Amino acid sequence: MNIIKVQDYDEMGSVTADYVSEKIQDNPEMTLGLATGSTPKSTYKHLIEAHQKGTSFKHITTFNLDEYVGLKPNDPNSYHYYMNKFFFQHIDIPSEKAHLPNGHSRNISQECEEYEKKIKSHMIDLQILGIGANGHIGFNEPGTSFESNTHVVELADSTRRANARFFSSLEEVPTHAITMGIASIMSSKEIVLLVSGEAKSEALERLLSGEEPNESFPASILRSHPHVTIIADKEALMGTGIKL
Ligand code: GLP
Repeated sequence: MNIIKVQDYDEMGSVTADYVSEKIQDNPEMTLGLATGSTPKSTYKHLIEAHQKGTSFKHITTFNLDEYVGLKPNDPNSYHYYMNKFFFQHIDIPSEKAHLPNGHSRNISQECEEYEKKIKSHMIDLQILGIGANGHIGFNEPGTSFESNTHVVELADSTRRANARFFSSLEEVPTHAITMGIASIMSSKEIVLLVSGEAKSEALERLLSGEEPNESFPASILRSHPHVTIIADKEALMGTGIKL
């Protein structure tokens, strides 16, 4: 795993956006895997700026990692809404090329199967990932099988609490989500993991500690992927022994 060290959250966004923009220039029809949460927001901000300076997203295809079950796409807490607000509506990607799982489908297991099929038919060239404080990637909580494809998960209490800041109350945070599985994520040709802030420092330390991949710490699987770049800021690196 390569590590790119950055000073702060904003620099993480600009470095990641430059990295992604270069990949798009090399391959304008690439397939990009996208994440939500607080971490990638600065990346989207800088990618929008890149678009204003000429980068086109017209021919790329995107797949998001996850979506809450039970929220309609126009619900302000859904990841559909998030992606439109923070990224898609500001760039030139045709809406039919931007894929997210449909958490409001009547048949959630069928939705998972279809989403997985779509991912497999495209092959993700570059997947952007965040990490949960408990090591989750996407919504794959500790204990998730490394063989998992897109599936429904019951969210860990700690994850619901961590994400409650986006909702008016903890009760409103959905109990379930659809997420790409660990195997779906690992099938990406390349992965860029973004780690920002002190709250993620323990998880980053554990990831870098040399621990063998094990299902109790989902992010540990990344150690066995051939092409992972971690972009981490100073606060996240604190405690890992890695100096900027
Ligand atoms: C969320 C998302 C993940 C995200 C992670 C970290 O629950 N499902 O895809 O990477 O947890 O979120 P944040 O960036 O807000 O800390």
